[in-house]
Amino acid sequence: MARSALLNVMVQAAFKAGKSLSRDFGEVQNLQVSVKGPGDYVSQADRKAEKIVKDELLKARPTYGFLGEESDEIKGTDGAHRWIVDPLDGTTNFLHGIPQFAVSIALERNNEIVAGVVFNPATDELYTAEKGGGTFLNDRRLRVAARKELSDSVITCGVPHLGRGNHGKFLVELRHVMGEVSGIRRFGAASLDLAYVAAGRCDGYWETGLAAWDIAAGILLIKEAGGWVSDFDGKTNMLETGSVVAGNEYIHKALLDVTHRPIPKG
Ligand code: IPD
Ligand code: CA
Ligand code: CA
Ligand code: CA
Repeated sequence: MARSALLNVMVQAAFKAGKSLSRDFGEVQNLQVSVKGPGDYVSQADRKAEKIVKDELLKARPTYGFLGEESDEIKGTDGAHRWIVDPLDGTTNFLHGIPQFAVSIALERNNEIVAGVVFNPATDELYTAEKGGGTFLNDRRLRVAARKELSDSVITCGVPHLGRGNHGKFLVELRHVMGEVSGIRRFGAASLDLAYVAAGRCDGYWETGLAAWDIAAGILLIKEAGGWVSDFDGKTNMLETGSVVAGNEYIHKALLDVTHRPIPKG
């Protein structure tokens, strides 16, 4: 598997931030934590990791724009390119000592995602994709699962933050999906949910109320693994709407249908 120079820059940035996260994960009880909103936390670990990624990426490409969760957006002089970064996706897991979190880095060119990296330092799993080049987990090429029926499928999802998203609407979606599938999972890191679908570990995923940095890299992982991904309306405005539905061709369509069923009577 040959990686482009740019993808290598992204991988090295993810590894460097991953080292910092691993150190902080070892002494998570000593971290300063602040609250951004209901059920929404940020720690020193998030901020340190973002600085590491930002410094690495902007050192390599100083003219590119930068959108990260924990700092102000940099517009960049380049115009065509933008990094989209979640330095620690899965902060709640991280702060509870649950090893399901990741560094997520995407590169956008003319509003299209052309490279993506999702790295879980706790499991040493590195997911990478470049447009036209396939998706890899470490050195292994990935393909989405082949199951065609929801009844055989394991679906991962996200529960909207307390202050964000619509819990009532989510419960209706969940109720419909639950009635059709073999199993539901809630892992707590959107970038890894998408990576798990790309890897064929889960057959599908849906979530709303997300931000661009949660999903930008994962969207390319799905596409390059032969999967289908759209927003909740079946369109391609995932980064703007913050909603995502993913799977292979069949499960993507079935999930879109099922999550749009009306509230059951009674
Ligand atoms: C969160 C995770 C989670 C999703 C939330 C996100 P964060 O990101 O991706 O799975 O359900 O909506 O905000 O805050 O841990 O980077
Ligand atoms: Ca956050
Ligand atoms: Ca996130
Ligand atoms: Ca984050």
